Amino acid sequence: MHTIRIAEANDRDLLAALHLLLWPECSFEEEKLAIDALISTGMSGTLPAAVFVAEAEDGRIIGFLEVGLRSHADGCDPAQPVGFVEGWFVLEASRNQGVGRALMRAAENWARQRGAIEMASDSWITQEDSHRAHEALGFEVVDRCVHFRKSL
Ligand SMILES: CC(C)(COP(=O)(O)OP(=O)(O)OC[C@H]1O[C@@H](n2cnc3c(N)ncnc32)[C@H](O)[C@@H]1OP(=O)(O)O)[C@@H](O)C(=O)NCCC(=O)NCCS
Repeated sequence: MHTIRIAEANDRDLLAALHLLLWPECSFEEEKLAIDALISTGMSGTLPAAVFVAEAEDGRIIGFLEVGLRSHADGCDPAQPVGFVEGWFVLEASRNQGVGRALMRAAENWARQRGAIEMASDSWITQEDSHRAHEALGFEVVDRCVHFRKSL
């Protein structure tokens, strides 16, 4: 059993710890600052954003989904703002019990209420579990991308 709610300021440290499980290259201190800013302003940069958390019956946070509006996303209609899944994570012990689906439903409602008619997301090419979960929730693959760089 779990409930989905918007993250509050005092969720910050637990959320930052979950961020590090999803993005191990990040710094705990920087994540705390970014979460504080998002929760207090409801914005990411110049666009609306929100974090939903899944709370277990005992009050533990077992997952989160960070959603924002983007002006465009690959494969989506550029004439409309798009709801974008910036981060989606459920603790391993709580997976495959509908928590991720419930978080996504809350994020989609949030985006719909702000005028979005499409939802977009991305994932590393090797994260096949994430691809399967997206597809199970109605997402379709629109592109596969490899990024390059070189020093000048
Ligand atoms: C992706 C993730 C958030 C899904 O959370 P979850 O709580 O396990 O998701 P749910 O239990 O609500 O499952 C949602 C749907 O996806 C499907 N699904 C989830 N994981 C799956 C997997 N590994 N393989 C196949 N299908 C999967 C479920 O079967 C379900 O579909 P159904 O309702 O039709 O059966 C979770 O697996 C996770 O945190 N993964 C690591 C981080 C990650 O990859 N994040 C996404 C990229 S940002």
